[in-house]
Amino acid sequence: MKTVDNIHPIFERMESREDKQRQLHQRGITVWFTGLSGSGKSTIAIALERRLSQMGIFSRILDGDNIRTGINRGLGFSEEDRKENIRRIAEVCKLFTETGIVTLAAFVSPTNELRNMAREIISADDFAEIYVATPLEECERRDVKGLYAKARRGEIKDFTGISSPFEAPIAPTLSIDSTGRDVEECVDEVLKVILDKIKVDSTN
Ligand code: ADX
Repeated sequence: MKTVDNIHPIFERMESREDKQRQLHQRGITVWFTGLSGSGKSTIAIALERRLSQMGIFSRILDGDNIRTGINRGLGFSEEDRKENIRRIAEVCKLFTETGIVTLAAFVSPTNELRNMAREIISADDFAEIYVATPLEECERRDVKGLYAKARRGEIKDFTGISSPFEAPIAPTLSIDSTGRDVEECVDEVLKVILDKIKVDSTN
């Protein structure tokens, strides 16, 4: 008998995704924010989380701060490491999403290949791609973490936008340039494209 035959009965006793979603009165999805460092991904995700809470919708943010210091500690920014970073993140997003949680993932995820992999792991029905399209000049002007200056001085290699490529998404669910925009306005735009997907009447 194969090992999987032995663990099958345990799965039969587990609550299903539908059970979880019924309990939470919401449907789980992953809202995937992509864009350059400093484009506003995490800022929008944080404001969105707060707004969803006020609406009684349960969500969870995954970003570089909680992922690259934890489950993905040790991964760098080579092509191979970025791929493994996004693969693991997508698997975690899938677990959260299938638990009925609105999962807000904020990662540079610089190529179509990486984002397609994430979409495939999570499932296209449960995936909204938000491109935070703030131009490089504005991200560099903000330079919140001082990383662009370091990258320009050659102190960080393979820095996205400077010495490593960023490909704009081909057909994102939504594209937002945060330059000069109020964050709550950006949240309104995101809510418009995701609310239908998380409504309780689309639970099953
Ligand atoms: S990803 O490319 O693998 O998706 P991720 O979103 O996890 O990147 O991490 C990006 C964050 O790490 C940036 O916002 C920045 O703060 C930091 N960082 C450090 N080195 C780099 C680098 N070489 N390229 C891009 N971001 C970097």
